[in-house]
Amino acid sequence: MGTIVPLQITVNGQPLQTPVEARVLLVHYLRDTLGLTGTHVGCDTSNCGACTCLVDGESVKSCTVLAVQCDGTEVTTIEGMAGADGELHPLQQGFWDEHGLQCGYCTPGMIMAAADLIERHGSGPISEEDVRQGLEGNLCRCTGYHNIVKAVQAAAEAMGKVPA
Ligand code: FES
Ligand code: FES
Repeated sequence: MGTIVPLQITVNGQPLQTPVEARVLLVHYLRDTLGLTGTHVGCDTSNCGACTCLVDGESVKSCTVLAVQCDGTEVTTIEGMAGADGELHPLQQGFWDEHGLQCGYCTPGMIMAAADLIERHGSGPISEEDVRQGLEGNLCRCTGYHNIVKAVQAAAEAMGKVPA
């Protein structure tokens, strides 16, 4: 057992005080300590984006940061995207409606990265190019990306953005 350090963190709106091993990555803290297995591990090289979640609203590959580096932050994972009543987030609905997934392994990371993309984009239209560029850090082995782009654009429109 390595050094244990205190950690105060809010995950999906729930404040937590959970001591953690200093060497534990955020992705393993989320999956193994909190049981939030919607955040996936797809590589060992920071390439795939399957582990993407939001830290204080910014998309972060959670395999690239230590949990302790997120002390004092608010983390959102895919489990925190739907409403309390189970209503799907517009991005989840968009992926459903536009068939933006096949195996689904990349999908949580895609959705979290897209949430940041839409938020950062402001109020203007989101073009296909905007989505492709914004999600270039997230890999999908199945879909060819076309329906993912349509899903994100549909979600952006549902969230009040003007269609491109
Ligand atoms: S598991 Fe984090 S980028 Fe692949
Ligand atoms: S849907 Fe299979 S990796 Fe993207």
